[in-house]
Amino acid sequence: MNETSSVVRDVRGGESLRGTSRRHMLLGATAAMGSAWLLPGCGFRSGGVPGPALAPSPGDIWGTASLRCHAAASGLLAGFAVVPWLLRNNATYAAIVQEQANLIVAENAMKWESLRPSATTYNFDSADVLLSFAEQGRMKIRGHNLLWHRQLPAWFSSVATQANARQLLESHIETVAGRYAGRMHSWDVVNEAIQVSDGRPDGLRDSPWLRLVGDDYVEVAFRAARKADPQALLTYNDYGIEAENAQDEAKRQAVLLMLRRMRTRRVPIDAVGVQSHISAGAKYGAGLMRFITSVRELDLQVFVTEMDVNDRNLGSAVEERDAAVAQTYHEYLHLVLSHPAVTAVVFWGVSDRDTWLNHEDSRADGRPERPLLFDANLKPKQDVFAVRNAFDRRTGSKGRV
Ligand code: XIL
Repeated sequence: MNETSSVVRDVRGGESLRGTSRRHMLLGATAAMGSAWLLPGCGFRSGGVPGPALAPSPGDIWGTASLRCHAAASGLLAGFAVVPWLLRNNATYAAIVQEQANLIVAENAMKWESLRPSATTYNFDSADVLLSFAEQGRMKIRGHNLLWHRQLPAWFSSVATQANARQLLESHIETVAGRYAGRMHSWDVVNEAIQVSDGRPDGLRDSPWLRLVGDDYVEVAFRAARKADPQALLTYNDYGIEAENAQDEAKRQAVLLMLRRMRTRRVPIDAVGVQSHISAGAKYGAGLMRFITSVRELDLQVFVTEMDVNDRNLGSAVEERDAAVAQTYHEYLHLVLSHPAVTAVVFWGVSDRDTWLNHEDSRADGRPERPLLFDANLKPKQDVFAVRNAFDRRTGSKGRV
């Protein structure tokens, strides 16, 4: 790697910062100052990880041809939900993440269930692996999540009461967000708080947090997060707000109602995560774009936080499934990235071998799903090119957030 291309990489890194908020720019500036001139990615390979030998056919996706570099050139952050154990123990997996991502998130390692072996203790071992991998590779890190109704530790239901839940929540956020303060791009502070079918006028889900803390628990969590880490972009993250149907539209309206209420009450929040667990062949369009515009009008950024494309409604033929999934990746990302409020895209896993979907709703024919960018052998699928092309087509809107 020669001097000239190092400089080109830095220029690209600089470009990627233009499309972000002031808070994010401050973070970016700090990172850039610490990074001297040798930013990995966009051509650079650190010692020990497999390099060009991984190159697939057709077409190169490594170095300057990577998603990471194309994302940066379009003013975007992009990457994957990752598993710390695989980053440590699977060199091909680690090399893919290193080359293709400038933003990573823990698929599970920062959830309550993972961090809290008991009511009085924390275990940060896996989360710390992720932080050091990201920092060595000059990637940004999302935190997921500080509050969710799922993946709570087994002890939670017997320990948490109306008398202590608020304190339990605040001290968890203070400890976890505080530990990583200044190092996180963003935190999913509250995950999946809205469930319209639970019947409340405010749309809030009937969750343990609502029952134990009260109907201001979302606000409590965001205020605690800002206090613990004033630099991270605080995010509300949810699913089922993507599709062109009445159910998703009702949920979009309920989310907007909550966000407006938060704004009125001056609750600190910077972004909305649209999870984007979507289906090949389904329709995404005007409703989602109206939602993104409304979020932007509240002065919030939008991140695509958990994208994968399930193929459970498609027939058995692998070629047809893969083509439809790639097309959905392209259409969806081209649609949402046409909006300058969308500044980051995270895929929920690296390869089809590890996708969570195979443990959730499976296909009628019993075959494994193929929803991610790399196949079960960690070979790139056509989705990589579909995604990269969608990133490239966004270039015109960079820097307008
Ligand atoms: C999933 C993980 O991918 C699985 O490994 C785990 O068993 C369950 O959770 N919405 C979210 C994510 O916000 O945290 C979920 O992740 C997927 C749905």
